[in-house]
Amino acid sequence: MAGLGSYIMLLLLGILCLLITSPAEAATRKNQFDSGSSYTNDFNVTGQRGILWWHAHIPWLRATVYDDLVIMPKPGTPFPFPKPAKEFETLLGEWWNSDVEKVENQGNTIGLLPDMSDAHAINGKPGPLFPCSEKHTFAMEVEQGKTYLLRIINAALNDELFFAIAGHNLTVVEVDAVYTKPFTTQAILIAPGQTTNVLVQTNQAPNRYFIATRAFMDAPIPVDNKTATAILQYKGIPNTVLPVLPQLPASNDSAFALSYNKKLLAMFPSKLIETSFTPLV
Ligand SMILES: *[C@@H]1O[C@H](CO)[C@@H](O)[C@H](O)[C@H]1NC(C)=O
Ligand SMILES: *[C@@H]1O[C@H](CO)[C@@H](O)[C@H](O)[C@H]1NC(C)=O
Ligand SMILES: *[C@@H]1O[C@H](CO)[C@@H](O)[C@H](O)[C@H]1NC(C)=O
Ligand SMILES: *[C@@H]1O[C@H](CO)[C@@H](O)[C@H](O)[C@H]1NC(C)=O
Repeated sequence: MAGLGSYIMLLLLGILCLLITSPAEAATRKNQFDSGSSYTNDFNVTGQRGILWWHAHIPWLRATVYDDLVIMPKPGTPFPFPKPAKEFETLLGEWWNSDVEKVENQGNTIGLLPDMSDAHAINGKPGPLFPCSEKHTFAMEVEQGKTYLLRIINAALNDELFFAIAGHNLTVVEVDAVYTKPFTTQAILIAPGQTTNVLVQTNQAPNRYFIATRAFMDAPIPVDNKTATAILQYKGIPNTVLPVLPQLPASNDSAFALSYNKKLLAMFPSKLIETSFTPLV
């Protein structure tokens, strides 16, 4: 992880040089490149598959400059779980209505916690529960009777997040690009920077179901406790149908957090051996 992380960081420093306006700042960084040019970083991924997060490595700019890296198994090697009908990359973010660097600087200057975020977002969209003039909402279209893979990243700066889909269980199969012993849960908990891949079976009546995420906070610290939503939309269901909301654990449900984290076990106790496992199905 450290190796890959540092390669990703270098890649990002390259990307960031496009955004950094101060020449002095850019001059202190390696692998920078000029605006309009490109930079290729060649690196090996060893023993990992799944999804990892890349992001800006200059403090709070990571709130806005990020995306995912999907690492597939070697060609010819199956997943150790049923092949999904489709994969959805699902990035959970944290949004401020103001310039994130100013928010951070202000917090540092006055020595208090920086202002909490104004919203969380799923693939950049907060969903219809926010009083925005436009109801920006991410929707995943699915067909009944299939299995889908959601590759989820918590790209929030500060918040641990619960994540659930109304009426559907989630089967956790990978965390931080390592296969896990699969387990089924109504909701997942995901820390900032963490990744989690889940299988979702579309075994419910065709409808529109809310996908929801909200912060977990069990200490007396103010937190952005608003719920961001996206929609799991069965094919053929019109957009006028009101989606059903999932039941997320209470914001301070530390018992859920503890029991969830205890279920996270590696599929291969010592080392990932890509060629010798038997797929579950
Ligand atoms: C990646 O691994 C191959 C084979 O071991 C090696 O030849 C190559 O130099 C490695 N590349 C990097 C960037 O480490
Ligand atoms: C979700 O899992 C619970 C516990 O295993 C089970 O009782 C329930 O029927 C499952 N729900 C769905 C929609 O598969
Ligand atoms: C959410 O946080 C606000 C303060 O930021 C608080 O007034 C409100 O009660 C909280 N809501 C819940 C459901 O915890
Ligand atoms: C969670 O907060 C509620 C009030 O909002 C409180 O009644 C409950 O005791 C808290 N639970 C935990 C585990 O702290």
